[in-house]
Amino acid sequence: MRSNQAARAAQRAAARFRPLTRVVAAGTSLRSSLGGRQAVVAPARPVHGGQVVDHFETDGPPLPIFDRYRYTTKFDPAFYPVVGELAALARRGVLTPDEKATVEAAVGTRTLGRDLDELRDVLDEVARRHPDQFIAARQGAELRVSPDPEAVEARIDALLLLRYRQLQEMGFYLRQGRSGRRLRVLEIGFTSGGHSLVAFERLGLEVTGIDNFYDGSYAANDLPDHVVRHLSRSDARLVVGDAADPNVLTGEQFDLIFSESVVEHLSRPQETFAALGRLLADGGMMIHSYEPFFCEKGGHTPGTLDCPFGHVRLSTEEHLRYITEQRPHEAPIAVPWVRDALNRATQADVQRAVLGAGFEIAEWITHSGSPSALAPDELSHALRLHPTITTADLATTAVWFSCHASR
Ligand SMILES: C[S@@+](CC[C@H](N)C(=O)[O-])C[C@H]1O[C@@H](n2cnc3c(N)ncnc32)[C@H](O)[C@@H]1O
Repeated sequence: MRSNQAARAAQRAAARFRPLTRVVAAGTSLRSSLGGRQAVVAPARPVHGGQVVDHFETDGPPLPIFDRYRYTTKFDPAFYPVVGELAALARRGVLTPDEKATVEAAVGTRTLGRDLDELRDVLDEVARRHPDQFIAARQGAELRVSPDPEAVEARIDALLLLRYRQLQEMGFYLRQGRSGRRLRVLEIGFTSGGHSLVAFERLGLEVTGIDNFYDGSYAANDLPDHVVRHLSRSDARLVVGDAADPNVLTGEQFDLIFSESVVEHLSRPQETFAALGRLLADGGMMIHSYEPFFCEKGGHTPGTLDCPFGHVRLSTEEHLRYITEQRPHEAPIAVPWVRDALNRATQADVQRAVLGAGFEIAEWITHSGSPSALAPDELSHALRLHPTITTADLATTAVWFSCHASR
């Protein structure tokens, strides 16, 4: 049963990794690359987001508010850990009917419908009744429900296959295969539990993870330690620290530096790549993938609005006002996160930071979506607001790149 589930998860994960477009130089200017007419100025495609229930006034064209766009496009209640934990407890059948109703109202249909503090009180109460459902947390750490060990194993299995394919695809084994010693990997980012660190370890690498919990703005929790140490009996090292800090991991060297969904969150990309340059061993390889801010889902769970490309059609100030007005229960976490934990780097900005740190970009692989949900006047307003963005920034839903130190 578990192996079937794991196999399905692995297939889904492997299917996601399918490079579509290899480009030599991303970041070509939109205006020069268009050469006249192109898909982006085609009539806007219909939005499958339900009904328009309101509009948000901006300096440009008003933003329609669709009642079903966000939850069907980009929303994970677990972004707000207290909501995710209560939803998991509801699935396990340990909530009272009242608590269940509170969780349903909290998840809502377009934004959270309950105050996060109220939900924390509910979670505290469930923890008093059912301590066995929770990870034994350190003093002061956020409450986390203990994950189902089979689900953790299935996720590690899926990542094992995915990481193997990714490293193979990016030529890591070709470059490193003959060294004859255990290769060292540094992965940035493990807040979701560190499953990937365990997968790398099972592929035979010596593993270090580093995470700064979004510059300290995300509450520390014991989930990664529980998954890595307790459930998986892994020796992977978990370092709480900033990858941009030149004094972290001083003197250490890694054959592979890896991250997934981290580059768009780096608050100091140039300093981070400079620090990583010092940590990469001779002949080593760096591989990153990320979801760029300017694509349709680039606002992530807290910052994707209620119509396509809403976050690209607003200034940062308007974006934060939208969240405050339209999502009052999310705002205490979402406003600082959207302001500080999404760096709004274009692909050209990322390439400049990487090249400026002395790396050579070996591959730059983009997965393409379509920006055609934008009507012409919306597109020109977005371009006025963000004069340095390009076709690639709007149309690229995911970026993969690999680098080595330049000779
Ligand atoms: C979207 S999460 C994805 C992380 C990882 N792939 C996972 O599955 O947990 C982004 C992570 O990058 C971390 N991060 C962002 N900037 C960082 C930095 N400068 N140093 C270390 N970690 C950082 C965040 O704290 C967060 O855990």
